[in-house]
Amino acid sequence: MIGRVGADSFGEVLRNALIVEGIDTSTVVTVEGPSGVAAITVAADGTNSIVVTPAANATLQPADIAAARNQIRKASIVLAQLETPLETITALAQECREAKIPLILDPAPAQPLPLELLRSVTWLTPNESETRTLLGRTTVMTEAKAAERLLALGARNVILKLGPRGVYLAGADVPTPAFVPSPDLRAVDTTAAGDCFNGAFAVALTEGRSPVEAAGFACAAAALSITRTGAQTGMPYRSDVNKLLRSLT
Ligand SMILES: Nc1ncnc2c1ncn2[C@@H]1O[C@H](COP(=O)(O)OP(=O)(O)OP(=O)(O)O)[C@@H](O)[C@H]1O
Ligand SMILES: [Mg+2]
Repeated sequence: MIGRVGADSFGEVLRNALIVEGIDTSTVVTVEGPSGVAAITVAADGTNSIVVTPAANATLQPADIAAARNQIRKASIVLAQLETPLETITALAQECREAKIPLILDPAPAQPLPLELLRSVTWLTPNESETRTLLGRTTVMTEAKAAERLLALGARNVILKLGPRGVYLAGADVPTPAFVPSPDLRAVDTTAAGDCFNGAFAVALTEGRSPVEAAGFACAAAALSITRTGAQTGMPYRSDVNKLLRSLT
């Protein structure tokens, strides 16, 4: 984990939550001032809207990436999103590209991205509104068309996240573009379902599963995450995901 937290009680809580799960926090730096926070409201149907205050997250520098070079070079895969400055993510993408480490980028919060960055992304994973922002248009198009347009911008592969409909995968590492459905579980709080998907997809992919198989595992993890409240507290463990998958077969 590479990041920054503030010198407040949230920072301590965040760091401890990582340590409890066995995550290396040696490249998580504590800085003066507040930690990043997100105020999240959840509607009756489980969908959410989020107000983010970046605070410490906004101070993550390309120098933090350089300082974490040894850890990055040991990674099988790297996950990133856009709640830290774009120049820092671009530096990370450059590092991954040089070291030939696959990079999964969740383009959230939605914003147009430089082609230089998109060209270094192995798996781009937008949801429906992020897809519209990246393509700069509001008209409806098929998933196949949207994926094709995103691939033309330079990403090696794309995974369109489609909420209850699961995902659509396409790209150089996906011989046949495919929809992968999500198990139909009742949504209580969809917060972080997308992040849960990405984490589980990264795990399954590095364990040697095909992208479509990895997406099936990740959809099961994400579907479980929506049945529980909270972003971090809603994340399932591997044993929960395996149990759900067994119950479906
Ligand atoms: N109602 C649902 N039922 C089943 N699975 C769901 C549901 N909502 C989300 N998922 C699963 O979670 C994945 C990610 O959800 P979504 O498409 O909403 O992404 P997102 O908007 O990026 O989410 P986040 O709020 O975490 O940013 C979906 O691709 C799907 O696998
Ligand atoms: Mg998301």
